[in-house]
Amino acid sequence: MVEPIPDFGDVSNPRLYREDTWRPHFALLRREDPVHRHDASAYGPYWSVTRYADIMRVELDPATYSSASELGGIQIADQPKGQELPNFIRMDPPRHTAQRKTVAPIVAPTNLANMEATIRRRTASVLDGLPRGQPFDWVDRVSTELTAMMLATLFDFPWEDRRQLTHWSDVAIANIEAEDAVVKSEAERMAELRQMGATMAALWKERASQPPKFDLISMMAHAEATQNMPFNEFIGTFGLLIVGGNDTTRNSMTGGLIAVLDNPDELAKVKADAGLLDSLVAEIIRWQTPVIHMRRTATRDTELAGKSIKRGDKVVMWYVSGNRDEAAIEEPERFRVGRPKARQHLAFGAGIHRCVGDRLAEMQLKILWEEILKRDLVLEVAGPPVRLYSNFIRGIRSLPVVIRA
Ligand code: HEM
Repeated sequence: MVEPIPDFGDVSNPRLYREDTWRPHFALLRREDPVHRHDASAYGPYWSVTRYADIMRVELDPATYSSASELGGIQIADQPKGQELPNFIRMDPPRHTAQRKTVAPIVAPTNLANMEATIRRRTASVLDGLPRGQPFDWVDRVSTELTAMMLATLFDFPWEDRRQLTHWSDVAIANIEAEDAVVKSEAERMAELRQMGATMAALWKERASQPPKFDLISMMAHAEATQNMPFNEFIGTFGLLIVGGNDTTRNSMTGGLIAVLDNPDELAKVKADAGLLDSLVAEIIRWQTPVIHMRRTATRDTELAGKSIKRGDKVVMWYVSGNRDEAAIEEPERFRVGRPKARQHLAFGAGIHRCVGDRLAEMQLKILWEEILKRDLVLEVAGPPVRLYSNFIRGIRSLPVVIRA
């Protein structure tokens, strides 16, 4: 008798992430067909890579699995034709290498050390300003506020306009089909992003005419690799830095709170041993996995886990699945502080495109938790989270929380 073929759900459906029902679909894929071809989806045919080890294979072979904007870029949805926004995450070497090198010093260890006191002061003031005994939105008051402040510092962006950065981040990643999307069409998205580009171009002009200083705009304005970008690449690059520096950390701050409050015993471990804070942060990032997937395009015919991938095929690495792969991570469905090799997860990707801001994100989260614990805040979730309709960013749009006096 022929075995029935399991019904693999289309894991590109953004509803799975809004409803947070993706786990069983990936468990089935990992078990039955870890490199699976979906013949039809809203984004055309694509390969799902769902196991940790296979994701690493794709990540570590950028010559075969390209990120290039011209081939479609890094999301399952191709960029709209004629409106491509290249940037270095959507490039292969050597241009990728040169541009990444330009911005990397902003998150180098010495600069992180310089920023620590500022981040701590702001975190303390945000926490101290929260209402006691009445519900408030954790996303707005804490996660968004802290990440907008961080991004304004990295760009040396006008302080009072910093929420504009959050807005542009939301615009850049919006799924225009979501009922609560901030933009409803690609044309509207482009108009907003052009506005962002114009704002950044004015700051760029000012910084280019001044001696170099240590902010992202000045650094790019004075570096050969980024000096003369066409306007669409200019917009794309700022889009990348805004989303990279904002959305992901924001959602780890919110997802982390949910995870910790659902697992009080794990928090108790950290209260008893502050040495476990780094492990808590790594586990929060693995647990949340704020970037759901990255996509590559095959540059030649190849083979992956016994499957024949053809040149031009879309290959999607599902980080949410790799981070729950029982073959690579012990008890992946448990939120567990103190795991051995806690930082060995896929939430930051791997290889030449591995997140450039990983240490900064970890530092922000560590300070947040240090300051929460220092104050012994008794936090309670006061209602369900509203999740983002997206197959790319695992986001939380709002979360009511109460601090018990
Ligand atoms: C918890 C927070 C964060 C997560 C989960 C995250 C996740 C990721 C992922 C998955 C990638 C792609 C990796 C790959 O393709 O292998 C990436 C790349 C990138 N991230 Fe992050 N990120 C975070 C925070 C940040 C921060 C704070 C910044 C900026 C300060 C940042 C800037 C970037 C940039 C510029 C890239 C492109 C790197 C390249 O193409 O070489 N990210 N990030």
